[in-house]
Amino acid sequence: MIKWAFNFRSWQPTRSEWIFCGQCIQNEEKERIQRFVFKKDAKAAMAGRLLIRKAIAYCLEIPYKEIKLGRTEKGKPYLVNTVQGSLSFNVSHNGDYAVLAASRNGTIGVDVMKYEVRTSVPKFFHTMRRQFTEPEWSQIRKSTEESEQLKTFYRLWCLKESYVKALGVGIGFEVSRLDFTFNTEYLKEYVVTKDTSLKVDGVHLPEWTFEEHTMDNHCIVVANNQQNSTTTDFEEESGREYEHFKVLQINDLLQCASCLCEPDEEFWEKFDPKDEAPQIHRKPSS
Ligand code: COA
Ligand code: MG
Repeated sequence: MIKWAFNFRSWQPTRSEWIFCGQCIQNEEKERIQRFVFKKDAKAAMAGRLLIRKAIAYCLEIPYKEIKLGRTEKGKPYLVNTVQGSLSFNVSHNGDYAVLAASRNGTIGVDVMKYEVRTSVPKFFHTMRRQFTEPEWSQIRKSTEESEQLKTFYRLWCLKESYVKALGVGIGFEVSRLDFTFNTEYLKEYVVTKDTSLKVDGVHLPEWTFEEHTMDNHCIVVANNQQNSTTTDFEEESGREYEHFKVLQINDLLQCASCLCEPDEEFWEKFDPKDEAPQIHRKPSS
C-alpha cells in the first residue's frame, strides 16, 4: 500500500510552478481546475491529479507523458492504459490535505476529513441522524465531550465514504445500510488502526479492511477489498506493516513529472487573482 498526503493549503504556487503543473495534467482536468472559484479548490484538485500521476509512474513504471486517465460514469478516476499488473488507487481532499492511497491488490477507496469545530453540535447531529445506525450513534455519544463526539462522527463519516468510494458508486448510496463497529475506541495520532469491522444490511464483510489514521487534526480512512488478492503489495515487500501517510512536498509531487502540452500563461492569469477561500461573514454582535 502507498499512502501519500500533500498539504495544499500551505502551498503557495509560483507563476512558473502553477504553469508547469498545468502542463503535467490532461487538458480536460486543466479546464476543470480553471473553473474553480477559490484557489484552495483548484490547488486541492491539482494535488489530487499530481498524486495519481506520480503513483502510476512510480508503481507501474509508465512514462509520465503516456499515462492516460479516464473517469467512470460516476466520476472515479481510473487508468486507461493497458499494462502488466494492476493498481487500484483513489484520492480525497478536505481541510488542508489531499491524500492518495494505492495498492496492487483489491479495490481502494480513501477519504479525508478535517475535524471541523461546529457551533451547534446537537443540531448538526440531528440533520445527520439518518446517515448513521443506532449503534453508531451510541458510539458517537459515548463521550460527554462534544469535541470527542465530533471526532467519532468524522471517523464514522470517513469510514462510510471510504467504502462508498472504493465501490465507486458515488452520491446516492444509502450509507445507513453500513454499520461500523470499533474495536479501538479512539484513534491515536500517527498510529494506524486496523480493527474496525463492517456490516452491510446486517451481514459481516470480513474481506473488507479499513486502515484508520488521525494526523494533524484530520481523519483519513483507506478501505480495501482484498478478496482474491494474490500478488504481494508494496508494504509486504518492504517488510513494513501498516505505515502511516507520508507527507510529500511539491517537489516530490513534481519529481518525475513531465509536460504533456505547451506552457499556458492564461492558466496562471486565471488562477492568480482568485481568493484563497470564501470570506466568513459573521453577524455583527449587537
Ligand atoms: N468514486 C470514487 N472516487 C471518486 C468518485 C467516485 N464515484 N468520483 C470522484 N472520485 C474521486 C476523484 O478523484 C475526486 O477528486 P476530484 O474531485 O478532484 O476529481 C475525489 O474522489 C473526491 O473525493 P473527496 O475529496 O473525498 O470528495 P467528497 O467526499 O466530496 O465526495 C464522492 C466524494 C464525490 C466520490 C461521493 O462519494 C460523494 O459525493 N459522496 C457523498 C455520499 C454521502 O452521502 N456520504 C455520507 C457519508 S456519512
Ligand atoms: Mg470526502
